[in-house]
Amino acid sequence: MDKPKVVLGVSGGIAAYKACELLRRFTESGHDVRVVPTASALHFVGAATWSALSGNPVSTEVWDRVEEVPHVRIGQHADLVVVAPATADMLAKAAHGLADDLLTNTLLTARCPVVFAPAMHTEMWEHPATQENVATLRRRGAVVVEPAVGRLTGVDTGKGRLPDPAEIFEVCRRVLARGVREPDLAGRHVVVSAGGTREPLDPVRFLGNRSSGKQGYALARTAAARGARVTLVAANTTGLPDPAGVDVVPVGTAVQLREAVLKAAADADAVVMAAAVADFRPAVYAAGKIKKKDGQDPEPIVLVRNPDILAEISADRARSGQVIVGFAAETDDVLANGRTKLARKGCDLLVVNEVGERKTFGSEENEAVVLGADGSETPVPHGPKEALADTVWDLVAARLG
Ligand SMILES: Cc1cc2nc3c(=O)[nH]c(=O)nc-3n(C[C@H](O)[C@H](O)[C@H](O)COP(=O)(O)O)c2cc1C
Repeated sequence: MDKPKVVLGVSGGIAAYKACELLRRFTESGHDVRVVPTASALHFVGAATWSALSGNPVSTEVWDRVEEVPHVRIGQHADLVVVAPATADMLAKAAHGLADDLLTNTLLTARCPVVFAPAMHTEMWEHPATQENVATLRRRGAVVVEPAVGRLTGVDTGKGRLPDPAEIFEVCRRVLARGVREPDLAGRHVVVSAGGTREPLDPVRFLGNRSSGKQGYALARTAAARGARVTLVAANTTGLPDPAGVDVVPVGTAVQLREAVLKAAADADAVVMAAAVADFRPAVYAAGKIKKKDGQDPEPIVLVRNPDILAEISADRARSGQVIVGFAAETDDVLANGRTKLARKGCDLLVVNEVGERKTFGSEENEAVVLGADGSETPVPHGPKEALADTVWDLVAARLG
């Protein structure tokens, strides 16, 4: 089989050096990469580096090897074009269809999916001109990954940082795997909850659960690759890297998760509650560490109910028009319990999976049945959590119309 052909466009931002790692990830996973830098990009990383790392010739101009008509051929033959970093200038040129170098020509001739990973100072990113250019590119079907928040060039900090190359690679991998030019969740805002809440007993102890957050992260990653703006409410998911282009809101307890989900859901098209939210929390929080007392039995832990977030947002779905998805982790009578839970919660879709100490939690794979309020049943065979995530988004996209 031919290797998938990737064009890596690099424009002139300080983050150009990070594109070397992105390039490495593509070549090491069997992609044929043609790097097309702009002339400005070569001020940051030289042509020799791109050529040596990709094993392909590198040019910024349409005037090299004219007999091969590179200004047309490179774009025509690509399976994916990714521009990382994409400067404010490059976004403007792409949005307006300018074609004054090899990369901008390539963007006009490519008919494959296109991903932009912008990186710039916050002021440049927030400028209405840049925001309008981004909106134009998204409307035309490009996936524009939201920049991350963090350290920028010099002493500045803010939104505009290039996301981790490993995470940009994940977006590209998903976009390539789907191979569709029009991302079906473009223009949508989706909220995903992930991880497991922790309900504190005292400053050092909590009641928690085994959820790792990997399924929720797979949902966030796949939604971003399908063009959605994603808010990920992450409960105790330390160690999982922030997916590229996803707004991550860290929370600890069920009450905090409720607050964050309701706030993000205010303008959302869909909410997917993949987090394992504790049904109960200790009635009393001890301000000091609970001590063992000689000769005395421990005090019983009294629990109170936590808010039922899924039922709460589902109750409002007729008015909000949102698609609401819940998850049910069951240890027995999986489907029957799932149907009962779907009816009780009132959501559109319920992903039912069987869990156990060595099943699902923390693993890279999952197997589930997605139950619909319309009586539908969609089995998802054992496979990567991303495959289940894509099935969930297929069903959500169909309901969003
Ligand atoms: C040190 C330095 C760092 C820069 N970093 C960025 C950046 O991160 N993002 C950006 O949009 N422009 C940045 N610029 C400005 C661009 O290089 C400039 O707009 C250039 O015209 C972009 O050309 P290109 O889009 O053809 O690559 C930087 C310029 C300098 C000198």
